[in-house]
Amino acid sequence: MPQASPTMNVMIAAARKAARALARDFGEVENLQVSRKGPSDFVSSADIKSEKTLFEELSKARPGYSFLMEERGVVEGSDKTHRWIVDPLDGTSNFLHAIPHFAISIGLEREGVLVAGVVYNIVRDELFWAEKGAGAYLNDRRLRVASRTDMRQALFATGTPFHGKPGHDLFLREVEQVIAKTAGIRRFGAASLDLAYVAAGRFDGFWERGLAAWDVAAGAVLVREAGGIVTEIDGDDFMKTGAILASNTGLASQLQQTLRDS
Ligand code: IPD
Ligand code: CA
Ligand code: CA
Repeated sequence: MPQASPTMNVMIAAARKAARALARDFGEVENLQVSRKGPSDFVSSADIKSEKTLFEELSKARPGYSFLMEERGVVEGSDKTHRWIVDPLDGTSNFLHAIPHFAISIGLEREGVLVAGVVYNIVRDELFWAEKGAGAYLNDRRLRVASRTDMRQALFATGTPFHGKPGHDLFLREVEQVIAKTAGIRRFGAASLDLAYVAAGRFDGFWERGLAAWDVAAGAVLVREAGGIVTEIDGDDFMKTGAILASNTGLASQLQQTLRDS
């Protein structure tokens, strides 16, 4: 593996530890899937257990760092300059339906700047990691965003709003614009992996509105360190609004303009 910092090694070790239990629980979901009650209570306890492991491992290795976690929310530490941003299970709907596409996502902020990210696809054992200034990697392979600049050849990922979420009309207008100009759209159901796939050049870009900081913190570092652009769709701060766009330098402004035309 290329040289990872001690902090990155802490993040990777925490992700791998939490992943072991999630992998076992995913096997169990495949059995529970057929029962009448379904696996939903089981899945929420798997999610909470993953978060507990991540919290314990990260706290032990870096005492005092603050946290923003999906389940526990904000946990203030004595060190206000560092903050872990954690999604213990991204792609919950996939997990719940026994679809093997979900991840653990850990981002690190230093003085308000995103400096490191790990997105771990447990089923495929794909560990995406990046540190500011040191590049992005998939396991031990350096990542680069795709080099396509022609929208007609570009494949974009997105996330669909669903029951209880706002913005259905806008989303449908955006899809209408994007499908008319591109090679297509994918909706895989785990935002952290959508961003990791942009970093890996699998997707040419990704956009989604209504996300939370824990969905995007780690993936944003990955895309930037792979040479891509991450921005807010309408120009604000995506960590606050959750409206994110990620792509390579040749396509980002074309995608942004297409979305703005919607
Ligand atoms: C969700 C996934 C999904 C996105 C949703 C998120 P969760 O996170 O990232 O791709 O479309 O908006 O909430 O709930 O599975 O952690
Ligand atoms: Ca999530
Ligand atoms: Ca989650």
